[in-house]
Amino acid sequence: MKVLVTGAAGYIGSHAALELLEAGHEVVGFDNLSNSSERAIARIREVAGRAMRFERLDLLDMDGLTRLLAEDFDAVVHFAGLKAVAESVEKPLEYWRNNVSGSANLLAAMKAAGCRRLVFSSSCTVYGEVGKSPIDENHPRSAANPYGNTKLVIEDMCFDLARSEPGWKIVLLRYFNPVGAHESGRIGEDPRGVPNNLMPFIMQTAVGIRDKVRVFGGDYATPDGTGVRDFVHVVDLARAHLAALERIEDFSGAVAVNLGTGRGFSVLELIEAASRASGRRIPFEFAPRRPGDAAAIWADATLAREKLGWSAALDLDRMCADHWRWQRSNPAGYEGDSAAKR
Ligand SMILES: NC(=O)c1ccc[n+]([C@@H]2O[C@H](COP(=O)([O-])OP(=O)(O)OC[C@H]3O[C@@H](n4cnc5c(N)ncnc54)[C@H](O)[C@@H]3O)[C@@H](O)[C@H]2O)c1
Repeated sequence: MKVLVTGAAGYIGSHAALELLEAGHEVVGFDNLSNSSERAIARIREVAGRAMRFERLDLLDMDGLTRLLAEDFDAVVHFAGLKAVAESVEKPLEYWRNNVSGSANLLAAMKAAGCRRLVFSSSCTVYGEVGKSPIDENHPRSAANPYGNTKLVIEDMCFDLARSEPGWKIVLLRYFNPVGAHESGRIGEDPRGVPNNLMPFIMQTAVGIRDKVRVFGGDYATPDGTGVRDFVHVVDLARAHLAALERIEDFSGAVAVNLGTGRGFSVLELIEAASRASGRRIPFEFAPRRPGDAAAIWADATLAREKLGWSAALDLDRMCADHWRWQRSNPAGYEGDSAAKR
């Protein structure tokens, strides 16, 4: 297949582009590099040992999208977007413009070009209020912040579009908590500034960039009092995109599918596993709960098995070992020693 990957220089996009190349697909990637480095693309090519075309392009550039989509792609895998929850609360319009208007542009350019196969990065954040886990795809959707709202609305846009005319095949992949890195240690998560996600924070603490991890909430009704999440290896996630593309002809309309391991681990269990993987003590302190954080959430991943033939294969120790290899060999990320970046 000839596949267009948006957000290809980002954390999950780079791992997916690599899996697609390794499976023999022709990959064209684009990214505006607002939260990533073009060096990620060079590393993908290096590990895959194959060419991958890359363009610096913004989802808001309708002319650029129209020109690119005119190339006759078999499918699009859409990762590009802003993803920091706290930032989205401060800058809601930026999130709506970038994520929602950007995705509307992409869908319009696909429609105009006659490309009707899409795999989209959604999130378990669309489940908003959660009580008892596991959560399946029929769980009511709601959003607790502007970032979550953008995912919900983009999903709705896809459902509406798929209902408007036959032929659309759209897989909305709802990721749980992606962590880890490619086993080569050459590509991984490279957050700008202070990481928003837990795992990069833990690993930056292990490598000595940060003093300690702040654990938000130690008094939840969970076995050790800390939040429980469904951590899933980014390479497993990347492979799910490959599976979705390879099975996309079986889909009709827009369908949402959870991507998680189906098992929850606590924040303290993650810190312990990261400590085992790194051989370093990882100091932490408790901080108050954050509003909107669920006590525990993990996926019912049955549909992914049924529809995609996919289930997560890599366990928590492997997630930590791979993430640590990336962090240790790239302590300052792709740009090397860039104190200015942090
Ligand atoms: N990482 C997570 O925890 C997680 C969980 C659930 C869903 N997701 C979703 O998965 C997708 C990928 O996430 P990620 O963790 O790889 O994030 P990331 O920030 O590493 O990657 C996103 C990429 O999109 C690019 N981008 C942003 N706006 C763009 C625009 N207007 N035009 C072109 N490129 C643009 C960024 O430069 C970045 O390289 C996002 O849509 C995110 O919301 C991520």
